[in-house]
Amino acid sequence: AANAAARPHRLPFTPIQPVATTVDDMTVPAGYDWHPIIRWGDPILKGAPAFDANAQTPEAQAAQFGYNNDYLDIIETNRAGTRGLLVCNHEYTNENIMFPPGTDPEQLIRTVWEAHGLSVVELERKKRNGKWRYVPGARLNRRITLETPFVFDGPARGSEFLKTAQDPDGTKVRGTMNNCSGGTTPWGTILSGEENFNQYFLATGTDPREKRYGLGAQDTRNWRSVDARWDATKPAFANEPNRFGWIVEVDPSNPRSTPVKHTAMGRFKHEGANVIVDASGHVVAYMGDDERFDYVYRFVSRKKFKPGKGKAAAAHNRKLLSEGDLSVARFTGDGLGDGVSDGTGTWLPLTRDGQSQVPGFSLEEVLVFTRLAADAVQPTKMDRPEDVQPNLVNGRVYVACTNNTDRGKTDKEGTTEPNPRNANKDGHIVEILPNKGDHTDDFFHWNLLLVCGRPEDAGTYFGGYTGAVSPISCPDNLAFDSTGQLWIATDGQPSSIKQSDGLFKVDLDGPTRGRVRQFLAVPTGAETCGPVVHDRDTSVFVAVQHPGEDGTWDAQKSHFPDFATPGAEAPGDFAGPRPTVVQVRRT
Ligand code: FEO
Ligand code: CA
Ligand code: CA
Ligand code: CA
Repeated sequence: AANAAARPHRLPFTPIQPVATTVDDMTVPAGYDWHPIIRWGDPILKGAPAFDANAQTPEAQAAQFGYNNDYLDIIETNRAGTRGLLVCNHEYTNENIMFPPGTDPEQLIRTVWEAHGLSVVELERKKRNGKWRYVPGARLNRRITLETPFVFDGPARGSEFLKTAQDPDGTKVRGTMNNCSGGTTPWGTILSGEENFNQYFLATGTDPREKRYGLGAQDTRNWRSVDARWDATKPAFANEPNRFGWIVEVDPSNPRSTPVKHTAMGRFKHEGANVIVDASGHVVAYMGDDERFDYVYRFVSRKKFKPGKGKAAAAHNRKLLSEGDLSVARFTGDGLGDGVSDGTGTWLPLTRDGQSQVPGFSLEEVLVFTRLAADAVQPTKMDRPEDVQPNLVNGRVYVACTNNTDRGKTDKEGTTEPNPRNANKDGHIVEILPNKGDHTDDFFHWNLLLVCGRPEDAGTYFGGYTGAVSPISCPDNLAFDSTGQLWIATDGQPSSIKQSDGLFKVDLDGPTRGRVRQFLAVPTGAETCGPVVHDRDTSVFVAVQHPGEDGTWDAQKSHFPDFATPGAEAPGDFAGPRPTVVQVRRT
């Protein structure tokens, strides 16, 4: 992929200027337009009612598109490129703007349980390069929610730590939640990370194992008032929090399949997981634990990927993440005398060949209380690792460290070469080079591709590129286009650099390596999620999450997306925002 950036690109654009945080609209480059594909509440399953914000029920929401779309993929399913699947996470809910005042509290809680999880939705279009639309009631359409049965697999399945009054075997669990980012596997399944699960539980928070995961009396949503399983202070449900914080795998091609929680991949605040098939055939998953001063992880499958679309290969590959070695990253700097943040690193083993590698921790303890096991081997404390994503074109791995305003505070760790700024409000991007291109090797090189911020700010770095760049802050979700260039979606620019969040393209090679150019901005209050770049198809997709989230029912701050598209279907009498998956097309 030498200098792929220099090749003609099918998504040429002039960067947009930074957008004020008050603008309630999508902003796209000249020569592009956008349209919503699917919005919160749009009916998905057969018989689902049309969206009516004033008449929300759990039953209706269970058959409609969920709230706060995050991870996104758009997968073509026929050769003509006219059929597809949209898969999407629904991370959390903004009750303050979703429900009219006076909504029955139990009805509200049961409804938001159905607004969490994932959606699988069939798409169609008339021709390649055309506008996708979703197909209501299609065969593969599916909602996965907090009421969907899951099974555990891997070494901690059946562990004492997973048993509750509702699941005395510790083998199955009702639902998934706080599904943040994810990845699509080469065998066609979807991985999804359960992230900030702690906020839904009441816990004493006195046990170090609870404390390390932020469990305590933070359950402002009061779910325990409807189902006691959210009260971890009750002995019957003391282990319920241990049943969240996993990587889940969903087969979108089979709506009857039971989704899986993979214990072999460890339990933390999983941002997501992205896999690459190493040259050896082993599947390697990279994962971030999105918390200040937490870690970057790697999973290497014990078995090898079987190519091909046959049933036997599919069944084999769907088990690849059930067994393997988990490790955690230590980044060592070579000093700043060379003027750049870079160095070498090691994957420190946590599990290997089905055995714990951490003294004092059983295998089950490593997998269920992964953060504590990792602490014991002294990995590098990072500035909130979000997406950790292998680039299938250049074989390198990119880590989005979104920010960490606590770095350098009293009693907190100060700067290190891989996390070079105190009070880091803007974040940075780490580039990992596996040793000799081998993703199973425990040794690697690394460097900082970007130290984000406004280019005029002290300490920013754009891969050595000194020409004009767009200001960028708080990188969160990553994607690559077909030429291997990096696209970064941001979450947090309104507070850090006083601009709307957006999507940015970054060149990775050639003389423009490190050049950042802003492609789009999202409406007021929103973060940009899930970017999918189909450059050959001249389309970019984003999940617009939590538009207008600081509003109230009576004083909505966003009216996205229906106000802005002349002739679009009116959203009933609901004037508020609807999280939406958007397609941006070159016209
Ligand atoms: Fe849900 Fe780490 O973002
Ligand atoms: Ca250096
Ligand atoms: Ca995220
Ligand atoms: Ca984030």
